[in-house]
Amino acid sequence: MTSSLSQVLSRVRPSATIAASTRAGELRREGHDIVSLSAGEPDFDTPDFIVAAAMKALGEGKTRYAPAGGIPELREAIARKLKRDNATDLPPSCVAVTCGAKQAIYNALVASLNPGDEVIVPAPYWVSYPDMATLAGGTPVIVETKEEDGFLLTPEALEEALSANTRWLVLNSPSNPTGAVYGKEALQALGEVIARHKRAGVISDEIYEHLVYSNAGGAGGADDVSFVSFVEACPQLLERTLVVNGVSKAFAMTGWRIGYAAGEATLIKGMNVLQSQSASSATTFCQWAAVAALDSDMAFFAPMLKAFRERRDFTVQALNAVPGLSCAVPQGAFYVFPSCAELVGLKTEQGKRIEDDQALCLYALEQAGVAMVHGAAFGASPYLRCSYACKMEQLEEATTRLTKAFAMLS
Ligand SMILES: Cc1ncc(COP(=O)(O)O)c(C=O)c1O
Repeated sequence: MTSSLSQVLSRVRPSATIAASTRAGELRREGHDIVSLSAGEPDFDTPDFIVAAAMKALGEGKTRYAPAGGIPELREAIARKLKRDNATDLPPSCVAVTCGAKQAIYNALVASLNPGDEVIVPAPYWVSYPDMATLAGGTPVIVETKEEDGFLLTPEALEEALSANTRWLVLNSPSNPTGAVYGKEALQALGEVIARHKRAGVISDEIYEHLVYSNAGGAGGADDVSFVSFVEACPQLLERTLVVNGVSKAFAMTGWRIGYAAGEATLIKGMNVLQSQSASSATTFCQWAAVAALDSDMAFFAPMLKAFRERRDFTVQALNAVPGLSCAVPQGAFYVFPSCAELVGLKTEQGKRIEDDQALCLYALEQAGVAMVHGAAFGASPYLRCSYACKMEQLEEATTRLTKAFAMLS
């Protein structure tokens, strides 16, 4: 029997971030001493009160199918959250609960794209956006951003990329992989450009909303930016925006698979049709846990944020001391994105040339046992994505090992 796969699958790549984490796990299980800077998830446990809410739901028999768009209680909690935190006033009927924020984006693209429709994706981008647009039958249009612009999309570059075929701009602030955060004025400038192109909308991926290291009181300096939701900055574009968010990152709930999208009613209905014919719904008792998470005062989060900030400060300083690496201070998420341009073209002790950032990642894994993801996977080369969602000792060990391994290149 021959096994044949669909044509569309030949045009997409497996997720490079998942591949890197899986490979690091495999090597560790084989007995190798691996320090992984590849994780896209907090190393903290889900807070107890959220676990307790899930146990309560299980005890109460909340173990059956949920409505495709999510249980009403969670859709109401999301609508409350969007109003309270993001100046976004939408009824629960304009909210769809999904299996993670990832599925919210996928469902939105499948529900809205037709052949020829373009999706503008600023690079560096989260690995899944272009491939999801392709899977949904659309065409990703990659727009490079510059390190000297803080990896932020400029209104000029956006204007140039827009066409009569543009259906979406995908914005991600704070960004995976760069940690860049768009301030209110930057969002407004992009919003003005989008407003002139009536067919284009914005998918605003706000999954790292809470992971922003702003200086309380505007003390100035590198962290003088705070999170602003796209709709809060551009309320006139409410009807053309799909807000995507979830509980994965801030609530340390990556494995629970609960995300959501909120936006225009017809699109949300379309996404729910798709959900009803695919996953059916997100897991019911996890949805009850998400209600507890979103309604909480987030008191648990301050120590988590403090730890992430300390790790970020350490990682930036330590990576800048590694020969051949240089990075700015990211203002959000839990990634650092150093340039490795000085190392590309050098040779290993065995005389093998480091051709690109992917080869450098392989060298770091084999020579130093440090797992990272190469920038090319995010559409920007030569860079490395280093996650600091791990213990400080691991960051110390990883940066010590990288210093030694990269110093051996000549
Ligand atoms: C930018 C971005 N969007 C969405 C997601 C997916 O989140 P979830 O785990 O809720 O599907 C991730 C996860 O890494 C991400 O980095």
